[in-house]
Amino acid sequence: MQKALEMAREKRSEHLNKLFEFLRIPSISTETERHPDVRRAAEWLVDQMTAAGLQEARVMETEGLPIVYGEWLEAGPDAPTVLVYGHYDVQPVDPLNLWQSQPFEPEIRGGDIYARGAVDDKGQMFAHIKAVETILASEGRVPVNLKFLFEGEEELGSPSIDAFVEEHAGLLAADSVLVSDTAFLAEGKPMLVYGLRGLTYMEILVDGPHHDLHSGAYGGTVYNPAQVLAEIIAKLHNDDATVAIPGFYDRVRELSETDREAAAQVDYPVTQWQQETGMDKPWGEAGYSLIERRGGRPTCEVNGIWGGYSGEGGKTIIPAHAGAKISMRLVPDQDPDEIAQLFADFIPTIAPEHVRVTVNKLSGGWPSITPIDSPEMKAAAAALQAVWGVPPVFSREGGSIPVISTFQKVLGASAVLMGFGLPGSKMHAPNEHFKEDHYYKAIEAIIHYYHNLAG
Ligand code: BES
Ligand code: MN
Ligand code: MN
Repeated sequence: MQKALEMAREKRSEHLNKLFEFLRIPSISTETERHPDVRRAAEWLVDQMTAAGLQEARVMETEGLPIVYGEWLEAGPDAPTVLVYGHYDVQPVDPLNLWQSQPFEPEIRGGDIYARGAVDDKGQMFAHIKAVETILASEGRVPVNLKFLFEGEEELGSPSIDAFVEEHAGLLAADSVLVSDTAFLAEGKPMLVYGLRGLTYMEILVDGPHHDLHSGAYGGTVYNPAQVLAEIIAKLHNDDATVAIPGFYDRVRELSETDREAAAQVDYPVTQWQQETGMDKPWGEAGYSLIERRGGRPTCEVNGIWGGYSGEGGKTIIPAHAGAKISMRLVPDQDPDEIAQLFADFIPTIAPEHVRVTVNKLSGGWPSITPIDSPEMKAAAAALQAVWGVPPVFSREGGSIPVISTFQKVLGASAVLMGFGLPGSKMHAPNEHFKEDHYYKAIEAIIHYYHNLAG
């Protein structure tokens, strides 16, 4: 393994240049006009994986954007098989004017790689290609069998990958899954994530008068759609910060002893939360720490809200329409479709009959949780400790990667979430960045991981 680690260090600048090439491809999955770029990214990856020495690498079609598959299976039948998952699509860039450098012209400032996708997830997933390339080039073989599955639709809710995994369950069969698409707890504090929340994403549309009305001529006679929307949103939560949708908590698994012990080990002071958010005062359910609230409890969030006039100065109208995007983060054993139904059933009961209220489901994904005492988790913990010199903390995370639960259900393979981002790295926001040093060390940690797992 020493040879591989040495080579990883020697080739740092080469590895950086290749990542920059990847980051220059604007593979935004949520924007249809960028889909040719998403495809170009997939083809570019196949070339990289072939050059890395994989026995096979190809673009595979789905109902939507393509999946990139690759494999190296020469470790023998007794060695474990690891399925590496990542995503090569990225979020949109707006607001563009807040970027200090162009989102698709990567640049290093202060030891960080700035670009859309630098940390989520291109930089992290590309480290996996460089890790296997380095092992093969230095040692001739990897101590485990490897399969790679890179998705181009994660940022739009993974609409096609479930069917793909079911259809190709034989091809994808593995003992465990390895994913780098999460973050450290803080600088110098590696974290292994053992649970992710699920997601149900809804949209509420309120339609009132057939056009915007003069608020003087009609005010006081019309139930204003923007007001109705505000009233609906206000009724989604109780005063104690719990979600008011009937049945919402019915399937929520209470935090286990292990969960509470793990959460207590995580040093996440309010001051860190204040720094990360720019807020003074935390909000949320009583009886749960910040770590427990974000990883172990379900929520309901307003992502966006619109209606009427919001330009300069005043405009006296009663708007014809108002709307909101609302998502709910879910924990085991909540079912995203069932939650969507509970939401859709609840809204009419709190909406007045004066207006037309439409509820649509936009996307959904299951929550997931994996045991922390598996051999894979131990191998990952040792890998992180070897590279960063401290043992990782174990925590559940608030974000979602929908396909993780599908791997569990269809392949019977649990995921190790060994991510290398940092809390301030601005995932999904302007000036997204990935610590340059973490990119190189990620490659080393992955090299350690495969050797630990085999040994
Ligand atoms: N990498 C994130 C998920 C993530 C972020 C996990 C932070 C843990 C900590 C992923 O790319 C993502 O953004 N997922 C979306 C899923 C959604 C589009 C269905 C999310 O969590 O909002
Ligand atoms: Mn991601
Ligand atoms: Mn993301």
